[in-house]
Amino acid sequence: MTVTDLLTQGELTVRGRIRDASNAVLFCTVEHDGERAECVYKPVAGERPLWDFPDGSLARREVAAYEVSEALGWGLVPPTVLRDGPHGEGMCQLWIETLPPDAAPELLALVDAEEPEPGWKAIGLAEVGEGRTALLVHADDPRLRRLAVLDAVINNADRKGGHLLPAAGERLYGIDHGVTFNAENKLRTLLWGWAGESLTEEALTALAALRGALAEGGPLALRLAELITPQELDATRSRVAALLDSGRHPAPSGEWPAIPWPPV
Ligand SMILES: Nc1ncnc2c1ncn2[C@@H]1O[C@H](COP(=O)(O)OP(=O)(O)O)[C@@H](O)[C@H]1O
Ligand SMILES: [Mg+2]
Repeated sequence: MTVTDLLTQGELTVRGRIRDASNAVLFCTVEHDGERAECVYKPVAGERPLWDFPDGSLARREVAAYEVSEALGWGLVPPTVLRDGPHGEGMCQLWIETLPPDAAPELLALVDAEEPEPGWKAIGLAEVGEGRTALLVHADDPRLRRLAVLDAVINNADRKGGHLLPAAGERLYGIDHGVTFNAENKLRTLLWGWAGESLTEEALTALAALRGALAEGGPLALRLAELITPQELDATRSRVAALLDSGRHPAPSGEWPAIPWPPV
């Protein structure tokens, strides 16, 4: 049984609630025919209303983010499905066992310098109290660079440090994709280090394949049509086209605070 089948068809049992989440985030198990996995379940009924996203739409956006991540072929988002559960319809996402802090890669830092060290990219200046500022930097890491491309495609309005999960086998996952796919530009992320730089060959190839999958009647287009509005699907196509036309990582537009705060 595939992981997505297990997440979809397995018996869902709530084991606990994750504290300090802004929406209801439940830690669960799914079980089927002796197979078992841990997952998070975010019921639509537990979504906190937001002014700029239609009510009850966040779970579907999380699934759409997973579908786009799969189409890019980089495995950046843990398997995520839409299903019914004890609190009604919601998203169900494979639980990722994160590396302990001493084994996790350093991805973000605040430094007292004007330029980042080699191996790091500048995000921007941050207030650190008493009128002092420090440079916020992220690692020049190919996995983060792929995530920056995914975020540009899905128009992620909330890519924070806490939404990056380093796991065994050099894996890095991004989670919490409820505020994505808005038809208006809302890209708000820490991963601005490559802003304006050329996309990698790898990214251009993946984006070209994504453009095909998103074409009218294509498999991904049909799937996304069940999860986001027609306008949002068109806007997604436009973002992919703009990335391929410019060949560059997007730069902040200035219309929206570009960095989530606090960053973690
Ligand atoms: N798939 C996952 N694997 C491991 N931990 C997760 C996963 N999804 C969420 N979490 C944990 O639960 C916390 C809250 O989830 P998040 O998606 O940020 O919820 P919210 O929608 O409330 O912001 C995360 O910060 C993370 O620690
Ligand atoms: Mg969160």
